[in-house]
Amino acid sequence: MARISSLLFWVTCATVVSSTSITDIQGVAWRSPFVGQAIANLTGLVTAKGPSGFYLAGDKSEDIRASNGILVFSSLSTVLKSVTVGDFVSLNGKVVEYRPAASPDYLYVTEITSPTNITVLSSNNTVNPVILGKDRSPPTQYFSQLDVGPDGFLSVPNNSSQISVVNATLQPEKYGMDFWESLESQLVTIPRPIATNFQNTYGEFWVYGDWKTTGKNGRGGLSITFGPDGIPDGNPETIIIGSPLDGTKNPKTAVGTTLSDITGVVCYQFGFFYVLPLTAPTVVSSPDTIVLPSSIKSKPFAICSLTFGDYNVENLAPTSSHLPTIANHIANYLNTPDIMFIQEIQDNSGPTDDGVIDANVTLSTLVNSIAQISNVTYQYTSINPIDNQDGGQPGGNIRTAFLYRAEKLKLVSGSPVGGSIDAVEVKRTLLGPKLNFNPGRIDPTNAAWNSTRKPLVAHWRTKLGFDLFTINVHLSSKGGSSSTQGDARPPVNSPIEARTAQVANVATFVSSLLHANPLASIVLAGDFNEYIQTRSVYKPILSLLTDIDEAAGIKPVERYSYVYDQNSEQLDHVLISPIVKLRGVQFEHVHVNSWAPTIGARVSDHDPSVGRIRVC
Ligand SMILES: *[C@@H]1O[C@H](CO)[C@@H](O)[C@H](O)[C@H]1NC(C)=O
Ligand SMILES: *[C@@H]1O[C@H](CO)[C@@H](O)[C@H](O)[C@H]1NC(C)=O
Ligand SMILES: *[C@@H]1O[C@H](CO)[C@@H](O)[C@H](O)[C@H]1NC(C)=O
Ligand SMILES: *[C@@H]1O[C@H](CO)[C@@H](O)[C@H](O)[C@H]1NC(C)=O
Ligand SMILES: *[C@@H]1O[C@H](CO)[C@@H](O)[C@H](O)[C@H]1NC(C)=O
Ligand SMILES: *[C@@H]1O[C@H](CO)[C@@H](O)[C@H](O)[C@H]1NC(C)=O
Ligand SMILES: *[C@@H]1O[C@H](CO)[C@@H](O)[C@H](O)[C@H]1NC(C)=O
Ligand SMILES: *[C@@H]1O[C@H](CO)[C@@H](O)[C@H](O)[C@H]1NC(C)=O
Ligand SMILES: *[C@@H]1O[C@H](CO)[C@@H](O)[C@H](O)[C@H]1NC(C)=O
Repeated sequence: MARISSLLFWVTCATVVSSTSITDIQGVAWRSPFVGQAIANLTGLVTAKGPSGFYLAGDKSEDIRASNGILVFSSLSTVLKSVTVGDFVSLNGKVVEYRPAASPDYLYVTEITSPTNITVLSSNNTVNPVILGKDRSPPTQYFSQLDVGPDGFLSVPNNSSQISVVNATLQPEKYGMDFWESLESQLVTIPRPIATNFQNTYGEFWVYGDWKTTGKNGRGGLSITFGPDGIPDGNPETIIIGSPLDGTKNPKTAVGTTLSDITGVVCYQFGFFYVLPLTAPTVVSSPDTIVLPSSIKSKPFAICSLTFGDYNVENLAPTSSHLPTIANHIANYLNTPDIMFIQEIQDNSGPTDDGVIDANVTLSTLVNSIAQISNVTYQYTSINPIDNQDGGQPGGNIRTAFLYRAEKLKLVSGSPVGGSIDAVEVKRTLLGPKLNFNPGRIDPTNAAWNSTRKPLVAHWRTKLGFDLFTINVHLSSKGGSSSTQGDARPPVNSPIEARTAQVANVATFVSSLLHANPLASIVLAGDFNEYIQTRSVYKPILSLLTDIDEAAGIKPVERYSYVYDQNSEQLDHVLISPIVKLRGVQFEHVHVNSWAPTIGARVSDHDPSVGRIRVC
């Protein structure tokens, strides 16, 4: 009798086991069909252990959408001590979809919590990672099937749906987030990883491995580009490497650092898919630290040719320790262009919030520093903002400014310098368009420019009487955006409404200038805080002006001025009027910062650029 009941018991439990595997729990969609349910006698091989639990691998499914990995969440030392990597175990627990309450824009992680009856059934089993690039490879263009719209992950409306709500069936062959989700909590190997960014303050860094990539630039980073179907490609084939599970420390990386193979578990945290390495990788090679100066040089006796540079100098104050390096970049890497478009010049007291708004000390300190290196003494012009009304570091009153070589060009006289809230306008004269203020700010009281820098417009004349109009912009920054791998699809691109209105406002001004003279030479440059692939923002201006990268034939993968998260990307742009395009241009991005050997060696988060145009 006793024998029979124990046999019955065995049969019942065996039924539970065969009906609930890890692949069943993971399922083929974003959220588990078993959420909230108690699971008995779940079996799996311990593949990795960390401070907050261990990872189990169950039998593989024929269906690659269903991950056979799962995290058994526990920070109890009794639990953690009860298993060793290579143990084949059985346990009871509860299926949970976890996301921190304070982070509603993250994805859920499927976990087993409150594990009990952890029984080691056998030990010293071989643990085989999935070799990425061989067993499975990530798709290279799209993040999510919910990123609908012509601009893909950069489309508006943003956050029109959420992954966790739609809970779609995974399509790991096509969508990067689905790919990583289909490997959730599995042990993977990334062969021959290459870093696409500096490490962040937590020692984490982005990589791709030995698999197909798109957007690869000459440095080894991956640039945001358009895919073959014209939809933006945000490089979902990359993954961030988190803190090693064994407590070792990751090495420092830069764009293009190559590393030893990384084996670790796929997880989702802090808004991104990660691989948590079993142990820290080592650096195999570092990219060349030499950045060559631009080949574009000012020609002292050229009649028609003018050189220009564009540089966001990141919160430059008179006492900034990075000021001499910025001066060195302008002198020795950009070759002291005839005119410089500069962004983020702070007032004379820097970030001290004391009512000071003048920036003449900041600008003359920069000019003197450049003169000491190059013998070129720039003149400068800018317009003060109203105290604390233009955004940026509080008290810093950042603004855009022009530096110019008076032996090459001068501000056209006869118009006063505009004040903070004077709107620059185009006046038609018999001798061509003139500005009512020179320099002046575009539509400074328009709500579009609330809390941000107003564009600075200047009208120049060369020695031989050829005119040039320049517009220096610094649009609202992307602060407040959600992650490229977050729940909100397309990701929240903050504040895209503001940047769209700002570009439209600049386009209205440019249009009035071209209306007055369709052959006006115009250069619009600066920090737009937006990729050109976000076409909805640029639409009004690109019907008037041309992207100089395009006109100069810069390869799309080499168009970047910034590295952020997984991508090399272009926030800084130069747009030119039709006649300037027609006369021919030269242009170069000078990667003095994106190619820095360490993040600490960078003096600005932006790279400068330099170009040559002709005004006749
Ligand atoms: C639990 O599963 C293991 C492995 O399949 C099996 O050996 C064991 O008998 C099961 N236990 C019960 C109580 O069903
Ligand atoms: C998600 O989809 C799976 C598979 O269709 C389903 O079993 C599960 O209940 C869904 N979960 C939610 C929260 O919609
Ligand atoms: C504990 O696990 C063992 C091994 O899988 C199994 O035989 C036993 O029935 C489980 N006990 C409970 C109470 O789940
Ligand atoms: C596992 O292997 C190690 C070394 O190979 C050995 O010392 C240990 O006794 C083995 N453990 C079991 C449970 O077989
Ligand atoms: C972007 O998403 C935010 C947050 O859901 C929303 O407030 C905003 O209106 C959206 N903007 C656009 C242009 O889609
Ligand atoms: C996206 O929209 C949802 C639903 O309106 C909202 O709950 C969520 O906070 C939004 N996400 C972001 C990042 O703004
Ligand atoms: C800055 O401007 C103030 C007020 O016009 C002037 O007194 C001062 O000399 C200027 N300083 C420099 C370095 O140009
Ligand atoms: C700057 O001018 C001085 C004096 O004319 C000269 O000695 C020096 O070589 C020049 N430096 C550069 C970088 O042109
Ligand atoms: C301007 O921006 C500030 C700060 O972002 C905000 O508090 C204020 O409401 C905005 N004003 C208008 C008119 O949009």
